[in-house]
Amino acid sequence: MLLEALEWCLTPCPWASRRDGFLAAQIAIRHRAIRCRKAWRPHLESCKKFTIQSIGPGPSDGSALILGSGHLRDFDLPFLRRRFRKIVLADAVHPLEIQILARFSKGKIQLATEDLAIPSPQIQRLAKQSAWAISCCLLSQLPLAPNSPGAAETCSAHLALLRSSQSAILITDTAKRTMGSVDWHSLIENHPLPTADETWTWPIAPPGEAGKDGEERLVAAAVLN
Ligand SMILES: C[S@@+](CC[C@H](N)C(=O)[O-])C[C@H]1O[C@@H](n2cnc3c(N)ncnc32)[C@H](O)[C@@H]1O
Repeated sequence: MLLEALEWCLTPCPWASRRDGFLAAQIAIRHRAIRCRKAWRPHLESCKKFTIQSIGPGPSDGSALILGSGHLRDFDLPFLRRRFRKIVLADAVHPLEIQILARFSKGKIQLATEDLAIPSPQIQRLAKQSAWAISCCLLSQLPLAPNSPGAAETCSAHLALLRSSQSAILITDTAKRTMGSVDWHSLIENHPLPTADETWTWPIAPPGEAGKDGEERLVAAAVLN
């Protein structure tokens, strides 16, 4: 608790990201990821593998826009660094260690700090200029933002943003259920998504983490464009 409060005070970020709870949520995710590291490992590995295989080795050129970059746990950063000339990380708040990483990257890693629920002109421009735009475990969070105009509009705008890039990857949790239950409940009001190339389940809260039964998510991954 003390560590979390210290991190909240020390992380440089816009006031709106503190006020709207983005910083607190991100710090909470960091601690949950540590507690649940064994249960989360297959999901994080699936995210990394899907991105690496979809992008391919290729020459080191172009730029990548990573949407909802957070702690970059679900990305293979050495791969991204080899594969792209420039990497732009976009999130409502960037963890301290990512800010330090960017500061010492000689301009290779750049940060865009903003609420992505409504794509700003800057983010739209970045997406158009990027060889790849990658959205990983972000879409289901966007309708929860205070600025979101609603799930349908927010999801449509995010998909349009991805499609405006030369190539794009969408990885998102689409539904949740109590472990052991058969019924999935949509996290995005059943908004239509591109056909998934791969799906898997993510035990986001193993039993005991948030209630005795535990919760899992259905994750879909697709290449767009
Ligand atoms: C579940 S995490 C995604 C995992 C992240 N790639 C990682 O490895 O830590 C969701 C990320 O999306 C960001 N996020 C959630 N809602 C957002 C919004 N409306 N605008 C910008 N970023 C948002 C959070 O700050 C967090 O870093």
